[in-house]
Amino acid sequence: MSPPRVGAGRPARSIAAACGATLALLLPAVGPAEPLPSPLTDAQIPRIVALGPWPPPVVPDPSYRVAGLPAAVAFGQRLFNEPALSANGRIACASCHQAARGFSDGLARGQGLQRGDRNTPGLLNVGGQRWFGWDGANDSLWAQSLRPLLDPREMGGSLGSVAQAVRTTPALRAGYRAAFGEPPGADDERVAVDAAKALAAYQATLRSGRTPFDQFRDAVARGDREAAARYPPAAQRGLAIFVGRGRCWVCHGGPNFSNDEFHDIGRPHFAEAGRVDPGRHGGIRALQASRYNLLGPFNDDLTRATATSTRHVALEHRHWGEFKVPSLRNLALTAPYFHDGSAATLRDVLRHYSELNEERLHADGERLLVPLRLGDAEIDDLLAFLDTLN
Ligand code: HEC
Ligand code: HEC
Repeated sequence: MSPPRVGAGRPARSIAAACGATLALLLPAVGPAEPLPSPLTDAQIPRIVALGPWPPPVVPDPSYRVAGLPAAVAFGQRLFNEPALSANGRIACASCHQAARGFSDGLARGQGLQRGDRNTPGLLNVGGQRWFGWDGANDSLWAQSLRPLLDPREMGGSLGSVAQAVRTTPALRAGYRAAFGEPPGADDERVAVDAAKALAAYQATLRSGRTPFDQFRDAVARGDREAAARYPPAAQRGLAIFVGRGRCWVCHGGPNFSNDEFHDIGRPHFAEAGRVDPGRHGGIRALQASRYNLLGPFNDDLTRATATSTRHVALEHRHWGEFKVPSLRNLALTAPYFHDGSAATLRDVLRHYSELNEERLHADGERLLVPLRLGDAEIDDLLAFLDTLN
């Protein structure tokens, strides 16, 4: 099955109808006989419009008091590149999260003091997320930033060693004072959590720019057919699959191409022979047990309004083997793919969706995925579309 080709679209006037009455006024000259200049149907237009606008507004995060503060951003950037925070003095956040790779590392699985089970995700646009880590084991960017400092496989420090590095490294001590208005105190846990909050302030500034897709999306939203027609035909055909029979948009929806939820897409989830990665099931348990979650004593938002999602999370059997839906922006920088880095290329990812083993999928819940049986030309079109998200 192939998507409808040029000429099969509906009149451009219905773009305006789908996008709000004001647009109809912008398109008085378009007659009902004129087709959309693309393989897209008008039912798909609202789905495309919902993939923007980009960049989204910066949402304030009251869970840490230094969010957005320039001195905290500067201190966080310094910490991010600081190997003194690791047990062997040689590993920084930036060792695995490399700017030139969209803040990922090009490896299948993260390699710190030891090799981990999971792929290092890129950090562009990380600020707007609700859950962090492939299993959502953390509910804030600062709690997620504390984790690698203490994880024996990553940087292998302790609350005490991190706090001590901040107190005794002159540049870090000065950075702390500038960000928090006082020198680091004697409470190790407080100093280490504050360092993680400065790391969060820095990472929240890592945002990617506008892409050819964003130009197209805005043109569609305004009903500007001339500008929309500049988007490459192959990308338009790939997008038609994405918001059509591929149903990719159901999970990879919204401006950041993720619904911020967890799904099972039928990948094997062995961390190694005989040992399973429990995915979201383990993530929820870790989240609920964590002293650093948003219900805990370190959330600076005293109303606890930020903790609503955390309060309502419930552990269910279906969470086994579910992983977070990753963003699809800037994928050219972040190979290999999937939570375990098991797909070397985007073509491999698409082959997975094409050939999908239905036996592997959870029997319960809504069935979103079926093997798509994509032809080579359709895979090329999807790749052309994904390439416009860079
Ligand atoms: C050894 C490599 C390594 C180091 C060092 C490292 N990370 Fe990571 N990072 C990872 C891996 C692997 C994951 C995925 C973890 C998971 O899903 O459990 C991750 C996940 C994250 C995430 C979540 C991203 C998302 O989209 O959910 C953030 C934020 C993050 N790291 C920040 C940091 C910060 C800040 C530091 C330094 C304090 C750091 N990382 C050090 C490998 C590393
Ligand atoms: C049921 C929800 C769902 C649907 C539908 C879906 N995906 Fe995904 N996608 C996910 C999840 C969850 C992952 C992460 C899985 C993992 O790592 O084990 C993922 C991973 C990916 C990745 C890898 C990204 C990375 O950084 O590792 C790409 C690319 C991708 N999907 C593209 C697509 C395309 C294209 C479609 C439509 C053909 C699609 N997805 C349909 C949920 C979905």
